Amino acid sequence: MKSLSTPLGYLGIEAFLRDYWQKKPLLIRGALPNFTGLLTPQQLTALACTEDAQARLVTQRRGRFELQQSPFTAKDFKGLSKAQWTVLVQGVNHHLPSAAELLKQFNFIPHARLDDLMVSYAPCGGGVGPHFDSYDVFLLQGMGHRRWQISTQADRTLIEDAPLRILKDFRVEQEWVLAPGDMLYLPPHCAHNGIAEDDCMTYSIGFRTPAYQELAEQFLVYLQDRICVEGMYADPDLKTQKHPSEICPDMLKQVEKAIEQVRWDADDIANFLGCYLSEPKPHIYFDAPGHPLGLAKFSKEIQNKGVALSLKSQMLCHVNTIFMNGEATHAVDQDYELLRELADNRALPALKTCSTELIALLYQWYQDGYLNTP
Ligand code: SIN
Ligand code: CO
Repeated sequence: MKSLSTPLGYLGIEAFLRDYWQKKPLLIRGALPNFTGLLTPQQLTALACTEDAQARLVTQRRGRFELQQSPFTAKDFKGLSKAQWTVLVQGVNHHLPSAAELLKQFNFIPHARLDDLMVSYAPCGGGVGPHFDSYDVFLLQGMGHRRWQISTQADRTLIEDAPLRILKDFRVEQEWVLAPGDMLYLPPHCAHNGIAEDDCMTYSIGFRTPAYQELAEQFLVYLQDRICVEGMYADPDLKTQKHPSEICPDMLKQVEKAIEQVRWDADDIANFLGCYLSEPKPHIYFDAPGHPLGLAKFSKEIQNKGVALSLKSQMLCHVNTIFMNGEATHAVDQDYELLRELADNRALPALKTCSTELIALLYQWYQDGYLNTP
């Protein structure tokens, strides 16, 4: 069914997922017709200078790219006017309620795939050079205009020793100039180059595609605290051997059998994935309430007003398990349904009837700074 309330234009969600998602680029003119942006370049630069922001400043001088990483101070942005430059701030949705609202328009993609909203500002000529990402990304144009050049080329060779990942040989196949409200979807590994045509701000809604290597390594980390391997090495029948430095076959066999005791099942995979994908990035800190409400007052508040997730919280769920910022909690029946609604919508309306277990859990999360009363 076609829906006019998505940023996919006339296309509709099903057709987009079938024909474009993870397959090929799509330009959507007027995706969000009235969108002109959520913050000014000055506000973005100020955000880049805050303590917990993850930001990059890329300057181009005589065709060479230079990269500086946050933390920044206002001084870093002085005297840039002569260069072609751009500032890019990750996780703007962790700071700006309107950015979190914007992400809700992309709820047709599961939250487990969402990375964050990155916002960039560049004066005319600024950009990060031709590159590819291992993300699905919706590049939504805010203020100004950006020329996007793309290529489906298979050659991903990068310029060596460059501070950024820049393609050595970028062969433009298509290009467009995007105006406010236009959006370009790119699947992972589609080469692209965005050049500001004037004072330009781009909103990148990124969806991560974790490499299996990363998932497997992290699964082993998860497993190390959960495995139970019985027994210890024993060799009561030890025989002499010609070369004492050689590891004998008996020892290898015995250890192989021991390691075979390491087991996991589908629940472990789900539990790992929920914890891993909801784990906050290392630079994220939650603000616990300065003067927390007591349990009774909190309970009254949520019964009257409901609750809202903190902008920094990541909440996922799977069959009676809720994953809140990397921690798994079991919940059943109505509690699970309410918590899933909280995860879906990042908020719950006034909770007229609510179990004491649920209130206790929400209160713990409130004390941790994971959620608040609206
Ligand atoms: C930008 O906003 O300038 C860069 C976005 C990207 O190429 O991924
Ligand atoms: Co990119």
